[in-house]
Amino acid sequence: MKLLSIETSCDETAVSILSCEGDQHEAHFRVLGNALLSQIDLHREYGGVFPMLAKREHAKNLVPVLAASLAEAGLSTEKSIELSSEDKLSEILSREPGLFDALRAFLSTHSVPDIDAISVTHGPGLEPALWVGVNFAKALSLAWEKPLIGVNHMEGHLLSALAEKNEDGFSITNVELPILGLLISGGHTELDGMKEWLSYELVGQTRDDAVGEAYDKVARMLGLPYPGGPEVSKLAEEVRTRALEQPFKLPRPMIRDPHCDFSFSGLKTAALYVIKARPELSDEDKQLLALEFEDAVAEVLFAKTSRALLETQAKTLVLGGGVSANTNIRRVFTKRIREGHPEVSLRIPEFMFTTDNAIMIGIAGYYRALQGMYVNPETLVADGNLSLS
Ligand code: KG4
Ligand code: ZN
Repeated sequence: MKLLSIETSCDETAVSILSCEGDQHEAHFRVLGNALLSQIDLHREYGGVFPMLAKREHAKNLVPVLAASLAEAGLSTEKSIELSSEDKLSEILSREPGLFDALRAFLSTHSVPDIDAISVTHGPGLEPALWVGVNFAKALSLAWEKPLIGVNHMEGHLLSALAEKNEDGFSITNVELPILGLLISGGHTELDGMKEWLSYELVGQTRDDAVGEAYDKVARMLGLPYPGGPEVSKLAEEVRTRALEQPFKLPRPMIRDPHCDFSFSGLKTAALYVIKARPELSDEDKQLLALEFEDAVAEVLFAKTSRALLETQAKTLVLGGGVSANTNIRRVFTKRIREGHPEVSLRIPEFMFTTDNAIMIGIAGYYRALQGMYVNPETLVADGNLSLS
């Protein structure tokens, strides 16, 4: 099937078109079209993502991104079309007036593309940003008479992390269930078990800050730009292989507690105390503090994941979300899974799937389509707190 997918949960406006084949055990994806506009430079000026600014940008960018993706896929034919459902479209997009005008102009000049369904992220994320994508998808579903699929953004991270690149696109093969997913991003830190495809149970989660949030806050304390994760990582890597004495000691919160939950706010505060106690941090001090922070994060993440592997008896461990791009976390997990859980197959996402995009939404959308999990466009809602389980 050909699936058009839309992602607007945070600061990327993205539309992909995938050709999908196979079943859950062996799925193949070819990318026919993939367009993305990032707002990151805009948000960087403010040191974080502002929901209303993100919403405005998505509304401005969605039609051009859709047009680019369809054109790349060769599915765009210019033709004058009589719009039959204009009133309904205007109702769906009543809260996004600029978007309505742009979409009406596009729809009335382009024929209906040869696609089978539309999937869209409907949570979790920034609710105003999610709504733009959801309303846009509903409008397309109505105008083109295509079925609609609602996708959980974290499910997109999890399933796309199983996909391996090949010369033709991506494939998901040889995955043994149960799966355990460690999902680590700017808004989430959670361990999810999956005994059957798309059926999740929450095994552990953060009780306060998400790990990406802790990275971003520590970066800000060190005077580094947003998003801070890659910056902190860069600093730490500069000194990791030098045998310098570590003057800083940060806590490993909850590491020995008999559960799979996390806490990162204490770690962040401990880093703040170190910085306050030494206002004149040298460049090397900053590198060493970043190193200690990274070590604490990776140790806690691994200890809790290891416990969850035993609890769930998972055969496959998947890392997903923005923080799974982190070099040290990838290294620690690769080494320690091999040593401590040699029976577990570790799946680390291709780098392109660690940042938000619409291909990952298409992959999850296809898995939902395989189970017939279509939604009623009248009732689909955006939910900033949508959970997997
Ligand atoms: O999944 P994502 O793109 O957006 C959310 O859904 O939150 O994750 C973004 C988060 C940010 O906190 C960013 O600092 C962090 O992922 N991040 C990293 C790295 N790359 C991105 N954290 C640590 N190391 C990295 N290399
Ligand atoms: Zn994400």
